[in-house]
Amino acid sequence: MNEIKGKDIKTETNMEIMEPQKITDDKPIRGFIFTCSNKTESECFERLLFGTDRIYGPVVIRIRKDDLLFLVNIDINTLYGVFKAVSDGGFKIVPEAWKGRYPYQVRIKILGKIVKIPYADKILKKFEIKRNTPLYGKKLLDFLNLFIPNTTLLNNSNIRDNETVRLILEEKEKIKRYINKRDIEDEIPLIESTTFWDFPRQNYGLTPKGNNKYPGVTPALIIYNMVWRYTDPGDLVVDPMAGSGTTLDVCREEKRRCVCYDIAPTRPDVIQNDARNIPLEDNSVDMIFIDSPYGDNIRYNDHPDCIGKISAEDERFYDELEKVMKECYRILKPGKVLGWLIGDQWVKKRFTPVGFKIYERLCKYFEPVDIICVARRGQASHTDVWHNRARRFNFFLRGFKYLIIVRKPTKEKREQKPRKINWIYYERKKKYKPKEG
Ligand SMILES: C[S@@+](CC[C@H](N)C(=O)[O-])C[C@H]1O[C@@H](n2cnc3c(N)ncnc32)[C@H](O)[C@@H]1O
Repeated sequence: MNEIKGKDIKTETNMEIMEPQKITDDKPIRGFIFTCSNKTESECFERLLFGTDRIYGPVVIRIRKDDLLFLVNIDINTLYGVFKAVSDGGFKIVPEAWKGRYPYQVRIKILGKIVKIPYADKILKKFEIKRNTPLYGKKLLDFLNLFIPNTTLLNNSNIRDNETVRLILEEKEKIKRYINKRDIEDEIPLIESTTFWDFPRQNYGLTPKGNNKYPGVTPALIIYNMVWRYTDPGDLVVDPMAGSGTTLDVCREEKRRCVCYDIAPTRPDVIQNDARNIPLEDNSVDMIFIDSPYGDNIRYNDHPDCIGKISAEDERFYDELEKVMKECYRILKPGKVLGWLIGDQWVKKRFTPVGFKIYERLCKYFEPVDIICVARRGQASHTDVWHNRARRFNFFLRGFKYLIIVRKPTKEKREQKPRKINWIYYERKKKYKPKEG
């Protein structure tokens, strides 16, 4: 193992003065892995800053001051340790670092001297470490042992001499104190990569998001994905039909500002308001998420202005929701995104393509970005009796919803001209041979 002297490493002189940090003693210490390359490594140490891009943004914003950090240089397949977070993870702590390419950052200090361990890939594999899964408890203790040469462990006087080992052992003692305490997210969800989303639970993480007993509550990971794809920490998110406040709770956890309204609020931090008239300025919002009523299939409340009292078979339903769309258009900043969750209806032998009808109205104002198919889980109708009825009487139970993603155009909405695409046609592995005869 090679050692680099911590004191040889330059600290940044123009560091902004940090806010006094809360004592996070009551929280377990976790371990997080960062990566760098030969190109980016020196900046990590010169600035005493680790950084990453949006993919691991959700991981970085969960890092607390005093968590332990490790760095893998992927070009030379080497693991460096041990580092300690001296700030919480944040966004653009040093905006100009790595020319802005890795804006999710944390300030670090080195515990004694840096220990370099080769074959990082094998170690990460052995410990089954994923970058979106914090190390904690026994696994973190075992991982730290990698950075303590065995010989020094055997000899107490050596331990006293070796500052690095002493500091690591101190950390191990702190970790042991919390070994049975649960404040650990096993896996921090990665952003979805396809247009099919299927979330087994309404919630994610350690704290509830919205109220899963609320009729028509939104799966929190839908909002999580919208927030991480289309906003930065600190941006303003609005939900004009917020129900039990899932959007509010997701935004708090993901460090976005959020304003939530509902015609009949169920909690004090959701403001009473009709979505057809939103009390916000023009061009002031960074993202809007709406899970509107899908018709009159759910009785949300008794408020006379609840749009959920109008049938989806009645054109008035779309007219009223179009007023909401117009308001969303007005308050969104140009170039920013609206996500609208909606499902179709089949009732008493009649199908209504609610999703397509909403999409059509949205396209009067917005440019399409994409459409996500969200699996419907936990539906009251998903029982054996209903599945059998659907087969016997030849209809389908609703298996998915649409998440329609649209953007407020930056200039006048323009017709898109046809483009010439140079497709790459991939060869299939086995050549297709038509059967003879
Ligand atoms: C599907 S729920 C929203 C669920 C919410 N996202 C959650 O996770 O709890 C639809 C909501 O629209 C609200 N709503 C209906 N008409 C409204 C209106 N005119 N203005 C504002 N909210 C309205 C209902 O009260 C209901 O809470």
